[in-house]
Amino acid sequence: PRNIFFSRHGESQYNVEGKIGGDSLLSPRGMQYAKALPALITDNIGEKPLTVWTSTLKRTIQTAQYLPYTKLTWKSLDELDAGVCDGMTYEEIEQAYPDDYANRDEDKFNYRYRGGESYRDVVVRLEPVIMELERQENILIIGHQAILRCLYAYFHHLPQADLPYIKIPLHTVIKLTPKAYGCDEERYTLPI
Ligand code: F6P
Repeated sequence: PRNIFFSRHGESQYNVEGKIGGDSLLSPRGMQYAKALPALITDNIGEKPLTVWTSTLKRTIQTAQYLPYTKLTWKSLDELDAGVCDGMTYEEIEQAYPDDYANRDEDKFNYRYRGGESYRDVVVRLEPVIMELERQENILIIGHQAILRCLYAYFHHLPQADLPYIKIPLHTVIKLTPKAYGCDEERYTLPI
């Protein structure tokens, strides 16, 4: 059976500062994760072939840098575009756009950032990625929180309303094994 592995990028500078979006580099902890990841993946996959997909953002490319596999970057895997809120903390967003902040809480799946995207928009732009995922063998996706929530919900058939709240922690590899109905799942968290 083939496997699909998901991991968020290692902790980024923006994660440390509590800012959303952007294109920051990994923090020192994030770099430790990037260095520890190859052993975890190689132990797991053994001799089987694997392809690594990243977004075009620096933090995913940096996280993949030590992995000894073929890599492909996808623009469609870039994090949900927060539009005018890109680079802000949640506190700053609540201050600057209180109504938007409340609306997002009300319907997180459909809420679209001003000049940006909603989770629904992301689900649509991920369609080609999912099509290709369905045709491939073993894939490791080094992605972003919102993106991996959408992919995870697709493989586990989770409802749209729950999708934006799925827990995809940092420094954790999620291994899916597709079955006739749904997927088996294992999680590996690196103590970093
Ligand atoms: O904070 C990291 C991050 O990936 C942001 O870039 C993104 O906007 C956010 O998580 C998505 O999570 P939520 O939809 O819960 O705000």
